[in-house]
Amino acid sequence: MLVLRNVHVYHGHLHVLKGVSLQVDEGKIVTVVGANGAGKSTLLGTIAGVYAPTEGEILFEHKPLPYGKVEQIVEKGICLVPERRQIFDSLSVRDNLLLGAYRRHRRDGQEVKRDYERVLELFPKLQTMLDRPGGLLSGGEQQMLAIARGLMARPKLLLLDEPSLGLAPLVVKEVMGMLTQLCDQFQTAMILVEQNVRAALQTADEAYVLERGSIVVHGKAAELLADERVAEAYLGAAGRR
Ligand SMILES: Nc1ncnc2c1ncn2[C@@H]1O[C@H](COP(=O)(O)OP(=O)(O)O)[C@@H](O)[C@H]1O
Ligand SMILES: [Mg+2]
Repeated sequence: MLVLRNVHVYHGHLHVLKGVSLQVDEGKIVTVVGANGAGKSTLLGTIAGVYAPTEGEILFEHKPLPYGKVEQIVEKGICLVPERRQIFDSLSVRDNLLLGAYRRHRRDGQEVKRDYERVLELFPKLQTMLDRPGGLLSGGEQQMLAIARGLMARPKLLLLDEPSLGLAPLVVKEVMGMLTQLCDQFQTAMILVEQNVRAALQTADEAYVLERGSIVVHGKAAELLADERVAEAYLGAAGRR
């Protein structure tokens, strides 16, 4: 459903993505792992329309994406859950969730209501704290809220930028453990960007390793997880959780 071919992106003079090619098939979880500064957030930002490529192409459902046009890309069904979650601290959990659907509100109120109920079924913890301000949630709860809010936009493709960032290992397990179920239930595909290589490989179907703006390894996530060279190079201290 999503194909990137030879995508180049600059931040000013800085050449950040150097010919990235990758593919996401319907309903699949694809992970892009790499160190801090590799270009992971830039990659997601480019797909979401925050940055525009200078070269290469991005096809979504066989058509070129309107590069750099965030609103239009959201309309097409691509939703970014940014790094560090960015939920609204002073708004209640309920309002944070409903904001995720604000583009759809007028058009299909009934559907929004149904999605709201389905999202809460998937995240029962949130159900118990609907009136609490977002800022008072724990890190893991905030991450779940950010993902849940993304789902309220009814995406076909969900882009998750480092959901494990700053979470305790057990909470990482809990959050990552939900992603497969979430893709099934909401019929969405996902790109999961992570520095936590092991957790990401355990969760995803396909995996790409991004190093300084280039894809250096690509394969089935399970195969990369079992590959000794990959383990040695990428499953260091950060991955051993
Ligand atoms: N908006 C921006 N403007 C200028 N430079 C940026 C911007 N965003 C990221 N960079 C630079 O691009 C490189 C890749 O960053 P980023 O995509 O955030 O990597 P990652 O998410 O893998 O840590 C880094 O050198 C970073 O400093
Ligand atoms: Mg990043």
